[in-house]
Amino acid sequence: MLLQSLIPYATLAACVSGYVVNNGTDCYLYPESLTHFGQPVDDTPSVVQAFELCGTNGTVIFTNHTFHMDQVMNTTNLANCDVEIIGELLWSTNIPYWLSHSINVGLQNQSTAWLFGGTNVTMTGGGSFNGNGQTWYTQNRNNGNEPGRPISITFFNSTNLFVDNISIIQPQFWATFVTYSTNVTMTNIYVNATSNDEWGTVNTDGSDTWNSHDIYMANWTVQNGDDCIAAKGNTTKLHVKNATCYGGGGHDDWDVRTIGSMDGGYIKTWQGVHQGASGNGDGGGGGSGIIRNITFRNFEVTNVNLPIQISQCIYSETIGADTCETSKMNISDVTFENFTGTSRYNVAASLHCAGVHHCRDIYFQNVNIKSVNETLGLPLFNTTLQKEEFQCANIVNQNTTSGVPCNHWAPDNYGQSPSMNVQ
Ligand SMILES: *[C@@H]1O[C@H](CO)[C@@H](O)[C@H](O)[C@H]1NC(C)=O
Ligand SMILES: *[C@@H]1O[C@H](CO)[C@@H](O)[C@H](O)[C@H]1NC(C)=O
Ligand SMILES: *[C@@H]1O[C@H](CO)[C@@H](O)[C@H](O)[C@H]1NC(C)=O
Ligand SMILES: *[C@@H]1O[C@H](CO)[C@@H](O)[C@H](O)[C@H]1NC(C)=O
Ligand SMILES: *[C@@H]1O[C@H](CO)[C@@H](O)[C@H](O)[C@H]1NC(C)=O
Ligand SMILES: *[C@@H]1O[C@H](CO)[C@@H](O)[C@H](O)[C@H]1NC(C)=O
Ligand SMILES: *[C@@H]1O[C@H](CO)[C@@H](O)[C@H](O)[C@H]1NC(C)=O
Ligand SMILES: *[C@@H]1O[C@H](CO)[C@@H](O)[C@H](O)[C@H]1NC(C)=O
Ligand SMILES: *[C@@H]1O[C@H](CO)[C@@H](O)[C@H](O)[C@H]1NC(C)=O
Ligand SMILES: *[C@@H]1O[C@H](CO)[C@@H](O)[C@H](O)[C@H]1NC(C)=O
Ligand SMILES: *[C@@H]1O[C@H](CO)[C@@H](O)[C@H](O)[C@H]1NC(C)=O
Ligand SMILES: *[C@@H]1O[C@H](CO)[C@@H](O)[C@H](O)[C@H]1NC(C)=O
Repeated sequence: MLLQSLIPYATLAACVSGYVVNNGTDCYLYPESLTHFGQPVDDTPSVVQAFELCGTNGTVIFTNHTFHMDQVMNTTNLANCDVEIIGELLWSTNIPYWLSHSINVGLQNQSTAWLFGGTNVTMTGGGSFNGNGQTWYTQNRNNGNEPGRPISITFFNSTNLFVDNISIIQPQFWATFVTYSTNVTMTNIYVNATSNDEWGTVNTDGSDTWNSHDIYMANWTVQNGDDCIAAKGNTTKLHVKNATCYGGGGHDDWDVRTIGSMDGGYIKTWQGVHQGASGNGDGGGGGSGIIRNITFRNFEVTNVNLPIQISQCIYSETIGADTCETSKMNISDVTFENFTGTSRYNVAASLHCAGVHHCRDIYFQNVNIKSVNETLGLPLFNTTLQKEEFQCANIVNQNTTSGVPCNHWAPDNYGQSPSMNVQ
């Protein structure tokens, strides 16, 4: 019995194009290319088989080789399973295949290449994912939220999940997504989406969370063209510590450095009226909800377009000024603490809350941001303003306890961030 199972599965059954060595509870994965003179062959059937064999009370090891990921994978309902990724998982660039087969994840018409999850599961090993994203960045031409463009891996329906020491290079879309999960730890994660042509890496978020609770993320390095770490609806108890984010949209919590990014720490919500019907996340609004008890602490910002922002109509600034005042999202108890560094323009902070739902208990503690030009002793381009702007609108405690040195009205037309000094 043991002897037989030590033989690669491919030699046992012709219908399985797998290369899994299974001794007891351990499944060692080897790529098909090793037995095909180096030619790439789809390894997803053997990966799925390894999880069938060892996904409960077992260990799945991706050995130190390159695995070709040519099809979607659904490896959910794992239990007490340790996944060690030592090699590289390389996704195919068959765009028509992915556009029609990626697994829907239930949010904004979005989908994933790998739906993964279970109870008491770990994923470690120092290996890497390579989404072959350049093909996606080039074909997507800076469009937002292309339906079918897959998230590299979605951690779904998971409890007690521990992900450590994994790199995600050139993700196709968001690198990771955490949904319907509780007690998730993701540490020592490296994400790098860099385009080598004129098209950007739109939507290559480091991580998004949705309908998930008790999440701890620490020691992240993210270079991308969008959010570093973003909390979406029904996220509670998300704690982010020590993230370094280059070039993207920024984000959340403790000990964060954002460098050359659009934003530092920010909260954005939809307006209160529905707009656009695309369903892919670019149109929306009309919903309601609560955002509260958020602390952004120890941020170092370097040349960031807009280091601190609250906007309640971030995608609808073009459809008329009044929509911003309609948001039914209620924001309260938000503290920005220990912010240092530089803004690219002369706006350090812009806090625009909805006219119908002013923000309560907004606090700045030790926020010290200067525009890059000010630090260089240069006049501020195209403006007579020498001082940093702190813009406020509809903040209940703005002139009393907030600590925000509000000196201008916050306009509602920045979108993600300003693109020049303001007058
Ligand atoms: C399976 O093989 C690995 C590596 O050769 C070894 O470390 C492990 O102890 C083996 N497990 C069993 C149950 O034989
Ligand atoms: C997995 O381990 C648990 C606890 O040891 C045990 O109750 C369960 O029966 C095992 N499941 C399988 C499929 O071996
Ligand atoms: C994986 O193999 C590469 C060479 O192909 C080697 O440099 C690296 O150290 C190996 N990693 C591990 C963990 O053995
Ligand atoms: C994933 O596989 C599970 C079985 O393990 C199945 O119940 C579920 O419907 C599948 N999900 C999707 C989206 O295919
Ligand atoms: C998960 O681990 C906990 C603590 O070790 C254990 O009580 C529980 O039974 C495990 N769950 C499953 C599905 O094995
Ligand atoms: C979610 O996981 C639980 C086990 O924790 C399982 O019973 C349930 O079927 C899973 N749901 C889905 C949709 O996979
Ligand atoms: C949360 O998950 C971790 C593994 O990352 C585990 O050690 C811990 O026991 C879990 N906490 C609870 C309350 O189950
Ligand atoms: C990301 O990758 C690009 C291109 O390989 C490289 O130049 C850059 O240094 C990397 N960023 C980080 C933070 O490692
Ligand atoms: C973060 O990285 C530092 C330095 O490598 C390490 O000492 C620390 O244990 C890591 N933290 C976590 C939560 O992994
Ligand atoms: C923060 O995380 C980086 C990796 O992203 C690590 O090199 C560094 O040591 C960590 N710092 C601390 C204080 O844990
Ligand atoms: C949040 O959870 C509630 C209750 O389960 C649900 O009705 C609502 O649609 C969820 N909101 C989002 C944005 O997922
Ligand atoms: C705010 O969040 C912190 C950290 O999770 C928690 O300890 C505290 O009880 C929360 N406060 C309120 C008012 O919910």
